[in-house]
Amino acid sequence: RRSVVVAVGGGVVGDLAGFAAASFTRGLRFVQVPTTLLSMVDSSVGGKTGINLPGGKNMVGSFWQPQMVWIDTQSLSTLPDRDFISGMAEVIKYGVIEDAEFFTWLQTNASRMIEKDPETLRYAIRKSCESKARVVAEDERETSGRRAILNYGHTFAHAIEATAGYGVCLHGEAVSIGMQMAAHLAIDMELCDPSLLEEQTAVLSAAKLPLAWKDADPELMLPVMSRDKKVSHGKLRFVLPDKIGHVAMVGDVPTEKVVSAINACREEFN
Ligand SMILES: NC(=O)c1ccc[n+]([C@@H]2O[C@H](COP(=O)([O-])OP(=O)(O)OC[C@H]3O[C@@H](n4cnc5c(N)ncnc54)[C@H](O)[C@@H]3O)[C@@H](O)[C@H]2O)c1
Ligand SMILES: [Zn+2]
Repeated sequence: RRSVVVAVGGGVVGDLAGFAAASFTRGLRFVQVPTTLLSMVDSSVGGKTGINLPGGKNMVGSFWQPQMVWIDTQSLSTLPDRDFISGMAEVIKYGVIEDAEFFTWLQTNASRMIEKDPETLRYAIRKSCESKARVVAEDERETSGRRAILNYGHTFAHAIEATAGYGVCLHGEAVSIGMQMAAHLAIDMELCDPSLLEEQTAVLSAAKLPLAWKDADPELMLPVMSRDKKVSHGKLRFVLPDKIGHVAMVGDVPTEKVVSAINACREEFN
């Protein structure tokens, strides 16, 4: 029981090591040492650990907080560019969902970030971790619903990942396209001004993230979306922005609007 598990790696290692730490002898202390941008800004913070089962993602796991998250941005120097850029989608997500000031900073600095400028990286990673920690602190065990705002773009993204076949499209790439679909939907629902989509598009492009997917097919994606955890009593619910830095959970979204949001992003992939 005095042992400490140290998870050195990306989100897969962190989720598995965290789950092992939570379970072995009913709980060992553990430390996260994330080495991918995604795990630095997202999976290592918040205490969700788990593994997938054939029946679904993250079917088994627990909430188990690390004693410490140790981030050394130098480890990113060996990370392939595609993985790095994929992690940028979650960074930009924080700006849209709950930190307008950070979004403004990203408008000028997203391109500098993908050059891996150390100062810029450290700032963005810190802001992202703070953002995630704020949201998680309000709803650690996903009971009030606040934590769900972290799923901005993810209902679409999960459907993209599932229909593309796992591994074809990286998670962050799907999230980027999913955020674009969600922004289209928010405009169609008259929740936000079209300028929100323009601003989001500009920042995602500066980070060299994909904005559309040529194979997006509502007929394949909709059934996946209705199996998603965020469906409540058979109605599709989405996290949608009303302005940069603020989102709301929106229920009762008409299916035809979801279809148009998907179709709006069916262009050349990347
Ligand atoms: N627990 C959570 O809250 C949470 C949140 C988001 C995602 N996740 C999970 O995280 C996983 C994705 O994490 P990820 O994007 O880090 O992917 P990953 O762990 O699969 O890592 C991506 C690839 O990069 C390699 N790698 C890692 N660090 C490297 C480095 N410094 N240099 C070179 N290569 C390196 C890995 O070996 C792997 O091939 C998914 O399984 C997802 O379900 C969990
Ligand atoms: Zn994600």
